[in-house]
Amino acid sequence: MQTLQTTSLRVRDNQLFILDQQALPQETRWLEANSVELLVGHIHALRVRGAPLIGLSASLLLALLAERGLNRDELLAALETLRASRPTAVNLMNNLDRMKLRLAEDNFVPALVSEALRLVEEDKRLCEQIAVAGSELVKPGSRLLTHCNTGGLATAGVGTALGVINLAHQQGKVENVWVDETRPLLQGGRLTAWELGELGVPYQLITDSMAASLMAKGLVDAVWVGADRIAANGDVANKIGTYSLAVLARFHNIPFYVAAPQTTLDPHCPNGDAIPIEQRAASEVTGVAGSFGAVQWAPQNAKVYNPAFDVTPAELISGWVLDSGVVSPNEVRAGVFEFGLNG
Ligand code: MRU
Repeated sequence: MQTLQTTSLRVRDNQLFILDQQALPQETRWLEANSVELLVGHIHALRVRGAPLIGLSASLLLALLAERGLNRDELLAALETLRASRPTAVNLMNNLDRMKLRLAEDNFVPALVSEALRLVEEDKRLCEQIAVAGSELVKPGSRLLTHCNTGGLATAGVGTALGVINLAHQQGKVENVWVDETRPLLQGGRLTAWELGELGVPYQLITDSMAASLMAKGLVDAVWVGADRIAANGDVANKIGTYSLAVLARFHNIPFYVAAPQTTLDPHCPNGDAIPIEQRAASEVTGVAGSFGAVQWAPQNAKVYNPAFDVTPAELISGWVLDSGVVSPNEVRAGVFEFGLNG
């Protein structure tokens, strides 16, 4: 396969590498991801994370395995293992469905390679289009609030919600970005803060519990988040804490926008209740760990509930900003997501 480089994926000499998102921002460390076991381990540990990126990394590995001579049955088994690596972000399933179609072709090796590369290029284009569509909604002098990490780290391109924010900043419309630290794994505090710093976008890091008082003081003009799955009725699964922001935004009369590529749509999923929500290890809540070290503050045997995502009902969303443009609540109520945008 040709050499490939995005913010957090690299293919060189037919080997796949990922930028370790658990080590950032303290360390910039590229790790091998050359087998299903290695990549699934990285995905479980969130060293590779973000809905679009998970799907792209799995597709690239599958193509590389095909080039190394795995037969169709072995590739199918690899595909199914990769598909089961995380349950909530549908981009993984959507990308692998497309790879599976190519696997059925007679000449499946070049077919898989070109499909994986196409998915990467497509993601870059979709991100650009989301940024253009979304930036039109950002008013001059905006103080925006964002959650989790939706930038170049999480995609092959400029990101989703963070791509919008960055373009709006380049257009001179962003006064400040409030970055939710995003407990428990701190994707905001570690990754979004780092990306905005690199991009030169002014930001202030806050703990998740500060959003309400900032809104009450009139310091937030809009909330921008990404998505891991958008159901047919417009309900959105995203990083845990997103739903609370949507409720707060509605109470304070602040627009709440979801930015995502079409690979995040799941027309087969009728509503948010049907979205599988990943449950994660207790240790993520009883303490914190990263390249900075590990600490536990809760009692050794503390009981923990740790869902990685929550569902924001469609009625709380002001606009779904997709690569095809902004979808309004009225369009969603009329069923625009029910057959997929291209259906
Ligand atoms: O658990 P993560 O870090 O993979 O969760 C990521 C999110 O929830 C993002 O908001 C979402 O994937 C959108 S990424 C462009």
